[in-house]
Amino acid sequence: MSGDAGGAQTERPAVPIVIIMDEDAATRGATVMIDRAGDDRALGTFTTLRPGGRGRTGGPLGRRAFLGAAGALALGWAGSGWSDADYAPARRGMLDAIADTTTRTAASTGVGAIDPTVMAALDRVLRHAFVPPEIEGLAYENRPLPIGHGQTISQPYIVALMTHLLALRPHHRVLEIGTGSGYQAAVLAELVDRVHTIEIVPPLARQATERLPRLGYGNVDIRLGDGYHGWPEAAPFEAIIVTAAATHVPPPLVAQLAPGGALVIPVGEPFSVQMLLLVRKGADGEVTVRQILPVRFVPLTGGH
Ligand SMILES: C[S@@+](CC[C@H](N)C(=O)[O-])C[C@H]1O[C@@H](n2cnc3c(N)ncnc32)[C@H](O)[C@@H]1O
Repeated sequence: MSGDAGGAQTERPAVPIVIIMDEDAATRGATVMIDRAGDDRALGTFTTLRPGGRGRTGGPLGRRAFLGAAGALALGWAGSGWSDADYAPARRGMLDAIADTTTRTAASTGVGAIDPTVMAALDRVLRHAFVPPEIEGLAYENRPLPIGHGQTISQPYIVALMTHLLALRPHHRVLEIGTGSGYQAAVLAELVDRVHTIEIVPPLARQATERLPRLGYGNVDIRLGDGYHGWPEAAPFEAIIVTAAATHVPPPLVAQLAPGGALVIPVGEPFSVQMLLLVRKGADGEVTVRQILPVRFVPLTGGH
């Protein structure tokens, strides 16, 4: 299930089938509900939010694509049948959209441009191979998409921003909490020698364990479990990225952060707007926290 931030209203009651969690509350917000026919007339106002600014109404193309993803998954529509090469122009369009959103959110994030090495990594990863075949054709939209089990593959801009904030170097040890489709792990695996990633939903962990090596990412270690507790045997990590919303910064993750390391995590109440935080540990062990951007993620679950 899902919905993104912004408090938009539906015009008439509709039966929610899939509601997509949109992690980019700062730039776009909508509560999306579709009826059983995937009819986008069920969608109400599509509000765009800017950090510190007023909302505006979004266009129909964006919301159709948004609904198309949910509807296609719910109704089992056919995949595109395109080859990897066919998707290259769409991927370049995704990079343009990321650059545009980065510019528009710079006042909040302090990030005027994504590191070119991160952009190059995003250009190499075949995002369409990480989404259900039914919605492959929407893979390069700059928005989250459903991946089953009530979970989402994150919005490309958010993937780019969070990866940028980690300031990765090839020798860095990286821990991701929330493997999901494996897409973020693949982006990380393009940038560093070794990635550790933890997923709590067994079928998603199994799928990523099969998918990542098949796509050439042999440098990713996947563990099934509650990522709140981190991966102590592989610690310390120069970078930790949490791709589900926690109610607080998990102390075990801070403990497993190397001196000089960075942790990026959305923190706030579940099914609400959270704040993306950049937590840094200084060389002397001092921990500082910076607020980056209002976001909305699926919750960090587990018994912790
Ligand atoms: C927004 S999705 C992550 C998207 C993913 N990074 C990708 O690239 O597709 C959040 C993921 O976090 C997982 N998750 C939630 N709570 C978790 C926990 N305690 N430990 C590990 N994974 C968790 C969910 O099952 C879901 O797959």
